Amino acid sequence: MVKPAVFAALLAGSAMATPMPQATGVPTPVTLLSGAYWIRAVSAPNFHKYLQTKPANLPGTAILDSHTTAGQFAIESGQLVNKASNPPLYLWVEEPADKANPPRTLATWFNTTKSPFGAFAWQGDTLTWSVASIKRQNVGAWLVCAKQALVINTGAYGYQTPSGCVDQTIHYYNDKTANN
Ligand SMILES: *[C@@H]1O[C@H](CO)[C@@H](O)[C@H](O)[C@H]1NC(C)=O
Repeated sequence: MVKPAVFAALLAGSAMATPMPQATGVPTPVTLLSGAYWIRAVSAPNFHKYLQTKPANLPGTAILDSHTTAGQFAIESGQLVNKASNPPLYLWVEEPADKANPPRTLATWFNTTKSPFGAFAWQGDTLTWSVASIKRQNVGAWLVCAKQALVINTGAYGYQTPSGCVDQTIHYYNDKTANN
């Protein structure tokens, strides 16, 4: 598996090698597509920051950022799918070698193929991720770290928060437009 950082470098590299009309991202439909949701944080310091990639709607690290570039998502058979991208993009979670003692954070990113590891689900309006092989205290615990990267928190929510990160939960929002 290609690590997210390497993946980003590969993307950047290919963007330099060949002219890519989509290098600045694919415009997000301003209005919510049928069956899709916005996904956002609702508390500081990421209040109304939305799930997306940068450039928007292309493969890359999952981040929380401006409502103007928000992706639109649905959960389909445990996969979190970006419905605003073409082709659809699926959210992947880093698979650690030692699942009994996983690292505190697991990276997440969007890829064009279905994720082979774990499943996403709504708990109320909260986005959760779980996998049988990893014990988590709170399946809705996320962290937002450097460059707004959204990562899985394998530990407790709000406890010994890794430096450079903040605790967040993220939630669906289904108004027609993503607001600030
Ligand atoms: C993207 O998906 C392909 C096909 O499943 C896989 O080979 C590749 O490792 C994935 N890349 C990342 C960064 O997940």
